Amino acid sequence: MRTLILFSTRDGQTREIASYIASELKELGVESDVVNLHRSGVIAWGNYERVVIGASIRYGHFHSSVAAFVKKHQQALNKIPSAFFSVNLVARKPEKRSPQTNSYTRKFLLTSPWQPNHCAVFAGALRYPRYRWYDRVMIRLIMKMTGGETDISKEVVYTDWPQVARFAQEIAHLNSK
Ligand SMILES: Cc1cc2nc3c(=O)[nH]c(=O)nc-3n(C[C@H](O)[C@H](O)[C@H](O)COP(=O)(O)O)c2cc1C
Repeated sequence: MRTLILFSTRDGQTREIASYIASELKELGVESDVVNLHRSGVIAWGNYERVVIGASIRYGHFHSSVAAFVKKHQQALNKIPSAFFSVNLVARKPEKRSPQTNSYTRKFLLTSPWQPNHCAVFAGALRYPRYRWYDRVMIRLIMKMTGGETDISKEVVYTDWPQVARFAQEIAHLNSK
């Protein structure tokens, strides 16, 4: 039996985090499949003993496909041990990096028909040179308002990788319901 790690990403950071979780799990003797949620197709739920979903925030929202996926698969998701992680830049501030203090994550959990056993919030990446003009201007404005990096030549990864490794360890210990 394997662990299924589904990710929803726009710029790749959530995929990187999902792959990192998979490599940490492998070290703990847990095999996993890392799958793009937007291209997941038919899922052989019977092959999996756990599921993890990770999704990033853009302009205040997860991709609409995340809620659609959860709605469609809620029965399967609620049946096996599961975890959720969200990725955003508000979480670069440690006090906004928990499911209770990160408003995107708290709202998701409040309205989701799937209730994961475990949840984490990770800081994402800020990659100005890769953004389109409009996004770069908007993100810079948000960073200016919230005391973040405003140098548009910079790429900054705020993800706390040891925090991700701890999350992977907790996933490895999620037992059958
Ligand atoms: C256009 C754009 C809008 C964003 N909006 C938000 C936001 O509203 N709140 C936030 O905390 N982070 C926001 N972010 C930061 C992303 O969540 C962060 O860059 C994350 O690492 C993206 O993950 P991904 O590469 O997996 O999509 C935004 C980033 C971009 C590029």
